[in-house]
Amino acid sequence: MKTLIAANWKMHGNLSWLQKPADFRRLFPAKNTNIDILLCPPAHMLQAMVRACDGQDIAIGAQNCHDQIKGAFTGELSADMIAETGAKYVIIGHSERRAIFGDNDAWVAAKTSAAQKACLKPIVCVGESREEREAGKAEEVVGTQLAGSIPANADGENLVIAYEPVWAIGTGLTPTIEDIATIHDHIRGCLTIRFGNKIASKIQILYGGSVKPENAIEILALKDVAGALIGGAGLEMQSLAAIASEV
Ligand code: PGA
Repeated sequence: MKTLIAANWKMHGNLSWLQKPADFRRLFPAKNTNIDILLCPPAHMLQAMVRACDGQDIAIGAQNCHDQIKGAFTGELSADMIAETGAKYVIIGHSERRAIFGDNDAWVAAKTSAAQKACLKPIVCVGESREEREAGKAEEVVGTQLAGSIPANADGENLVIAYEPVWAIGTGLTPTIEDIATIHDHIRGCLTIRFGNKIASKIQILYGGSVKPENAIEILALKDVAGALIGGAGLEMQSLAAIASEV
């Protein structure tokens, strides 16, 4: 399985950042075909970023989409609109969307389905809060989120899962390597029950939450970790390239 190194830029960046794909490739030339690089910039630069990645072997993704094709949804973008920019991926159900913008499991499932129909690859985020982890409920919470957030038609190629414990995002904290392995194993188990081994074994499961060059080697070495969804450390191409170098 290929490794996906994905940078979620959140609400950071401006048009001067169109330089970053070339900067990244200077630091990390595209010779290792086992690694896919993905940048998820704010929506205003999706199309320009796709152009800036021309010939760089870097994919572009959005950070959210609406579940409807069109309509009176001020401020929103449909999956088709995102696909029209040339983007190939879309992050769905990030914990910030779930906590701040009301993206619940049912809506995440509808958005995921819309993304799949638009031939975008959804990266569906799940993860427990600190209280849930401390109460020993991490597996249960992630299992429930998965069941509610993923539509029925996964084929192995049209779905990526990102396990992102909410308490690890932007905090510098990470679960232990054993805890990451346990949850990834649990996610693989849930996907296998739902879709069967043939499909489930093809679904990439990423880890996200305070991934940086210093911890990437250990995390990315885990059997069921097929890449990383990176926030803070993905804003600088030097640290993103350092993480990719650990694969
Ligand atoms: P972080 O963010 O790497 O800054 O913790 C990860 C994310 O929000 O996807």
